Amino acid sequence: MSCHRSAQHLAVLIAVALAGAAGAALAEDVSGRQVYVDYCASCHGANLEGQPNWKQRLPTGRLPAPPHDATGHTWHHSDRQLFRIVKEGPAAMMPGYETDMPGFGAVLDDGEIAAALDYIKSTWPERQRDVQAAKSASDPLQP
Ligand code: HEC
Repeated sequence: MSCHRSAQHLAVLIAVALAGAAGAALAEDVSGRQVYVDYCASCHGANLEGQPNWKQRLPTGRLPAPPHDATGHTWHHSDRQLFRIVKEGPAAMMPGYETDMPGFGAVLDDGEIAAALDYIKSTWPERQRDVQAAKSASDPLQP
């Protein structure tokens, strides 16, 4: 095989590898979004906008679902805290706390929970992503 042909061959291999990587990344985004749509959007909103008047307690004394976009405070929590909130529910972190947010550990596996959170994070502007990444980096319990 001439030099020219093997260079062409290499270029094809690289193109195939890149296409594969892009396809895998896309599949992750889609499934994280799908988990969100199926399990989270009913309360947190199809556009992550949360429930109306989310800062005002409901007649039950509980809080409505906050938005997951930049106007909410999801990005104030480290990765570890977010994962625990979703897996175990806020009540597991604060015993006795009355909340409408269930834990999803029984219905979603760890990968699905992480994918849903990655989807939420992928919608944030750079500032929110930077602040949240810094929270994760400085969380003393972050694995
Ligand atoms: C039945 C309604 C409901 C569903 C479904 C739901 N949530 Fe929530 N979620 C809430 C409520 C209500 C709160 C506010 C909790 C509180 O403080 O009482 C909340 C809070 C949160 C918080 C903490 C936000 C913050 O800023 O402190 C996260 C993170 C979260 N939810 C993620 C999710 C994810 C991810 C899903 C889907 C896997 C989901 N939620 C599904 C109702 C829901």
